[in-house]
Amino acid sequence: MADLPSVCATIAEMRAVVRAQRVAGKTIAFVPTMGALHRGHAALLHAAHQQADHVVASIFVNPTQFGPHEDFHRYPRTWEADLAVCADAGVGHIFAPSAEEMYPPGARTGVEVAKLQDQLEGLSRPGHFRGVCTIVLKLLNIVTPDTVFFGQKDAQQARIIRQMIHDLNLPVEMIVLPTVREPDGLALSSRNQYLSPAERAIAPQLYRCLADVQARYHEGERQTSALEAELRSELLDITGFRLDYAHVVEADTLMTVDCLHKPGLALAAITLGTTRLIDNVTLP
Ligand code: PAF
Repeated sequence: MADLPSVCATIAEMRAVVRAQRVAGKTIAFVPTMGALHRGHAALLHAAHQQADHVVASIFVNPTQFGPHEDFHRYPRTWEADLAVCADAGVGHIFAPSAEEMYPPGARTGVEVAKLQDQLEGLSRPGHFRGVCTIVLKLLNIVTPDTVFFGQKDAQQARIIRQMIHDLNLPVEMIVLPTVREPDGLALSSRNQYLSPAERAIAPQLYRCLADVQARYHEGERQTSALEAELRSELLDITGFRLDYAHVVEADTLMTVDCLHKPGLALAAITLGTTRLIDNVTLP
């Protein structure tokens, strides 16, 4: 087995590692995660390894991006397996701070990306993106990577973080990699572990409906009302799915337009049993 990565539990330790890497002239690639690593994360870590001399992954289940009735406490924590995934991908250091380390008592500052954060996931999960942006900015300030990697599975998150990096002049290149899927189309997600066997059997229908809309787009349909209507009606037809939202938007603004003249995204969120699943396809 490959060497296990070293673990930094404090900001001071992490900063010392980064300083040493910089003194040695090394470039740094960073993959922020909440652990429960799957093949989607592994793809980001392997790409990071190709990109830079030294790879840092963070494993931190960030409390501020969970709402009061969400799954913070039951979010899967799979430390030993995560270490093995990181080792296999050639990660040099894992940053795994405590919540107290990241959020000192009395912390008041948060980052918000106006407009982009207020629709889609932001409507269903108020405060979610404030939590995401705040932790990602803190992590970027600590790790100071040359390159940071995210997955397209969280398309809105990726768009918002790109905006934050631009607006705050952060000196980091952001790379977004395509969603990794199971052979039946289900997007890999740490939350898939919550699904019962019966729910797991139905779950790929989420991607199937999105893929149908993508096919309709490739056939030439550009009216978002037609694309959205098809997506919604297909999702509503699936026994077991409770539809949260289904939208076709412009990829850059995340806004609804009548007709897609620029690249778009079809995004949907459903609940299956007690598990909320999101997915999206690009309409290039
Ligand atoms: O995508 C995630 O796993 C999280 O939102 C992130 C970017 C690690 C911030 O906690």
